[in-house]
Amino acid sequence: MDNNQNNGRREFVKQSSLIAGGLLAAPFLSNANFFSGAEDTIKIALIGCGGRGTGAAMQALLSKQNVKLVAMADAFSDRLENCYKTITSKDVDDGNNLKAKIDVPEERRFTGFDAYLKAIPLADVVILTTPPGFRPIHFEEAVKQNKHIFMEKPVATDPAGIKRVLDAAEIAKQKKLNVVVGLQRRYQNSYRELYKRKDQIGDITSAQVWWNNDGVWVNKRKYGQTEMEYQMRNWYYFNWLCGDHITEQHIHNIDVMNWFKGGYPVKAQGMGGRQVRKGKEYGEIFDHHYVEFVYADGSILNSQCRHIPGTISRVDEMLVGTKGVIHGDDAVIKDSKGKEIFRFDKKKENNPYQNEHDELFAAIAKGEFKFSDAENGAKSTMTSIMGRMATYSGQLIEWDKAINSGIDIMPKKFDWNALPPVLPDDDGYYPIAVPGKTKYI
Ligand SMILES: NC(=O)c1ccc[n+]([C@@H]2O[C@H](COP(=O)([O-])OP(=O)(O)OC[C@H]3O[C@@H](n4cnc5c(N)ncnc54)[C@H](O)[C@@H]3O)[C@@H](O)[C@H]2O)c1
Repeated sequence: MDNNQNNGRREFVKQSSLIAGGLLAAPFLSNANFFSGAEDTIKIALIGCGGRGTGAAMQALLSKQNVKLVAMADAFSDRLENCYKTITSKDVDDGNNLKAKIDVPEERRFTGFDAYLKAIPLADVVILTTPPGFRPIHFEEAVKQNKHIFMEKPVATDPAGIKRVLDAAEIAKQKKLNVVVGLQRRYQNSYRELYKRKDQIGDITSAQVWWNNDGVWVNKRKYGQTEMEYQMRNWYYFNWLCGDHITEQHIHNIDVMNWFKGGYPVKAQGMGGRQVRKGKEYGEIFDHHYVEFVYADGSILNSQCRHIPGTISRVDEMLVGTKGVIHGDDAVIKDSKGKEIFRFDKKKENNPYQNEHDELFAAIAKGEFKFSDAENGAKSTMTSIMGRMATYSGQLIEWDKAINSGIDIMPKKFDWNALPPVLPDDDGYYPIAVPGKTKYI
């Protein structure tokens, strides 16, 4: 850490105490982690070294700024070591000399539930890529420690987590910490070009969004695992970790409507269930959801997501306005007679995952405060959680009541021998929501 930053940090600490004493208004608080020039190394810590964490770390290292990965944290040492091996391997390096940007000796590789607490202080920027249940805890800590942040979507799995993220997002803004959330369509050329032209379809009155495909991996229970370890390894199928696939994947498409609409739904109702994914290895989540979200102006978002092998696949959005239609995946705009009025040239498409990091690290290197994605990330996550509440309960769910419900589905204790909040019966099956009977989850 260079002197500038030390000065910045000292200044920050001084200002914090003034604020605590009511002597300085919080909005004037300045961030300690601005960089004064290209010679400053931006230090990165990776929290959650799985598939996405490995990709995000590499994208951060390829961002063309003077960056160094200095710490890694994961719940499991095998996941961390695999990630380390991958990012330091020759094949992956591909002539980019990534190895020179990786300085994570064993003493800076941390494992266990509290690994994040050891890695975060060592960095200027943290990458949060664990399963989403942990995001509020990790985001809160990173903001507390004045770090810039890249965090994956979703940003929580329950309303209590959403509140924590929204509160920390406010503080991050006051501290001028850049926060990018991995809703990558917002960093993708085609979607940005559509967004620029959204007025061509007039006022958006309805939308259809889809995430229909075969589903994802399963990690079966292994002999000797505690219940906590099993759920952590097979996290996709437990709501406290994943939020169900309406939250974990379909958030991308729901977020497109929220982004283009410039708001969030006020209520939702829907239906869903488990038609084919019934085995105990599928934990407690559904395999399909269909939700009708209603916005304050009466416009409707029809959202469908399905994880059923052998059915048609579609991951897409169609936004319908008073004067035309936007097709997200095709990147096309048509007028209300069906005539094409804009088509994005797919040759100009970028890699949005890389762009998230290019833009974030360029802003940090220049000392700019440019990104505060946490609020919209939290509100789109909340939209998807509201959808899950609607399909699980079969009831009408209202935004204000849901977000203020205080519903908290996280464990009270994080320990390999502690019991997770949802437990199997004697045959290994987990309780599944039953519409009409389940109140909320
Ligand atoms: N934007 C996208 O398109 C995209 C794509 C893939 C994944 N993701 C998101 O990235 C996140 C991770 O997904 P993934 O596919 O990499 O999963 P993964 O299972 O491959 O990786 C998650 C890692 O986090 C670790 N972990 C779990 N709890 C932890 C804790 N408390 N502290 C530290 N480490 C912990 C796990 O051991 C694992 O190594 C999810 O939120 C997912 O939705 C986003």
